[in-house]
Amino acid sequence: MEVVPLAGAQQVATLAADVVEGVVRRRPDAVLGLATGSTPLPTYAELIRRHRDGTGPGYGRVRCFNLDEYVGLPAGHPESYRATIARELTDALGIPASRVHGPDPSPDRLATAGERYEAALQEAGGVDVQILGIGTDGHLAFNEPGSSLASLTRIKTLTEQTREDNARFFGSVEEVPQHVLTQGLGTILRARHLLLIATGEGKAEALAAAVEGPLSASCPASVLQLHPHVTVLADDGAAKLLARRDHYREVYDAKPAWQGL
Ligand code: F6R
Repeated sequence: MEVVPLAGAQQVATLAADVVEGVVRRRPDAVLGLATGSTPLPTYAELIRRHRDGTGPGYGRVRCFNLDEYVGLPAGHPESYRATIARELTDALGIPASRVHGPDPSPDRLATAGERYEAALQEAGGVDVQILGIGTDGHLAFNEPGSSLASLTRIKTLTEQTREDNARFFGSVEEVPQHVLTQGLGTILRARHLLLIATGEGKAEALAAAVEGPLSASCPASVLQLHPHVTVLADDGAAKLLARRDHYREVYDAKPAWQGL
């Protein structure tokens, strides 16, 4: 795992955008794994800015797979993750909705939604780079503490803490759905490169547990320790409790230029 402590959220966004663009340049039909929430928004804004400037890669052949989706929202709800990703990223990059996939929360098809999504991911050849955020309780996608480290896409129940954290996107905590469909931790581990971004002090405890704590279902993001290619980009606040923070920075500063992230 490579941890890169950075001064601020904009540096995180710049480097994260470099990683995503690098993947698309190397493989124009890349499969991008997308997260929602607040953390990736500066990265998405940076990708859009570069695309508009004409300095970004072509996204014409890219396919996208969202990490998760709320269950129980009316179709087209602005806070559904399908609508959020279109609004915050893919529409502006010119990626048509037909190339952006998410778990299907249709009430009458929920029982098979997980296996259908796994099949779609497999058919696409897997995810080249998966953008990830981390929950204050250590969740990854919507795999809450206690989730199987080998889990696949399925329906899950959000913790009260996550619903409170996400209430800012809705009118109140009561409006945050209780259920979600989420890629499992085992699904996430199949992506070829995992790019975790964490900003703000509120993530410091969860990030330290994920990166330096024991591998445990009690901290779902600790599953990253099992993957051969993980990049963690963290700003000062999020990196605050990392015991080896100075060493991570030394390693990054001493990296040969050809190595990349
Ligand atoms: C979103 C997701 C979640 C978020 C996490 C952090 O698709 O899967 O795991 O990444 O809840 O959310 P923010 O970035 O809003 O703090």
